[in-house]
Amino acid sequence: MNMNIPLVDLRWQTDLIKKDFLKEIGGILDSSAFILGPKVKEFEKHFAEYCGTKYCAGISSGTDALILALRAAGIEYGDEIITVSNTFIATSASISACGGKPVFVDIEEDSYNINPSLISRAITAKTKAIMPVHLYGQCADMTPIMKLAKNYGLFVIEDACQAHGAEYTGKRSGSFGMGAAFSFYPGKNLGAWGEGGAVVTNDQKIFDEVTVLRDHGSREKYIHLKEGFNMRLHGIQGAVLDLKLKMLDEWNALRRTAAGIYKRELSNVNELILPIEKPYAKHVYHLFVIRVKDRESLQKFLLDKGIGAGFHYKYPLHLQEAYAYLGYKEGDLPITEKIMKEIISLPIYPGITEEQIIYICKAVKEFFAGKK
Ligand SMILES: Cc1ncc(COP(=O)(O)O)c(C=O)c1O
Repeated sequence: MNMNIPLVDLRWQTDLIKKDFLKEIGGILDSSAFILGPKVKEFEKHFAEYCGTKYCAGISSGTDALILALRAAGIEYGDEIITVSNTFIATSASISACGGKPVFVDIEEDSYNINPSLISRAITAKTKAIMPVHLYGQCADMTPIMKLAKNYGLFVIEDACQAHGAEYTGKRSGSFGMGAAFSFYPGKNLGAWGEGGAVVTNDQKIFDEVTVLRDHGSREKYIHLKEGFNMRLHGIQGAVLDLKLKMLDEWNALRRTAAGIYKRELSNVNELILPIEKPYAKHVYHLFVIRVKDRESLQKFLLDKGIGAGFHYKYPLHLQEAYAYLGYKEGDLPITEKIMKEIISLPIYPGITEEQIIYICKAVKEFFAGKK
């Protein structure tokens, strides 16, 4: 009999905090603190502590957090920001939203993160920043990135939207750059019950600017220091996130255990490449991404068995219509282009059982056995 295993299932974690949340909601309703307010403040304090940064500002989404971090760091029209092409479009769209130009650099074939040794050749007189993405839950190689940034006078904004609690040489993601953006989209390792995001930083000026920009350029109601945005985190999301943050380490450990079971069960399947954990990294497996030769057929095969499998992502950004104006062509980023034809994400989330993972792995093995 088929099991039904979606790519992401949030019910397990929702059920765990439902009771506590219902206790919290009364206070929010009584105080009418629906936007920012004490629950967001408490969460901001706890999340900054968690990341090992001095400050955290709750923002309306991860995309908005990236935009505000870049704006606060002074990105202006025509500035170039170096990033990657195998990521969600919010990474590069946030750069464009500030008037900047995304410059795509190729990735490492084993970690799928930005290849630091290719960054310097992409630097021009207009380059202002590097935006590494900690893709799938594993940190980019931050030591050489920070060194390059220092040598060339650039700043670093981390896209940590997929890497809550991930570590690099024992330090948490988000604590390396001038600032970092997190997404609390529901399916993320730390997910809200709606949209949400945060900027974390050790720089008081960045924090002050982000908090002004997220609230229409004001510190005081109707007194506007500049034009800003409506990019504030909601009180209800602050309460949900603060409850879930207490469990994040435990839930990341469950993701790591799930990844271990996948690796054990699939280690002798020669037709696929498993994800690796770099020696400097603590991977938190936001996604469990394997590589195969015919991913479309595998996806269909798994779907027929009730298993949700996805592509993260389908097509490299530098070859998408949205970036035709940048003039990239096929062959410009060979590793990105190669791996993006092969990647397929298997279900992973806290609460997935060993039995479910073994069922998925059996199906993957059956797929390849059928091809022989
Ligand atoms: C790498 C990356 N950057 C940015 C974002 C944008 O976050 P959000 O969806 O919260 O705007 C996401 C999440 O979808 C992401 O995965």
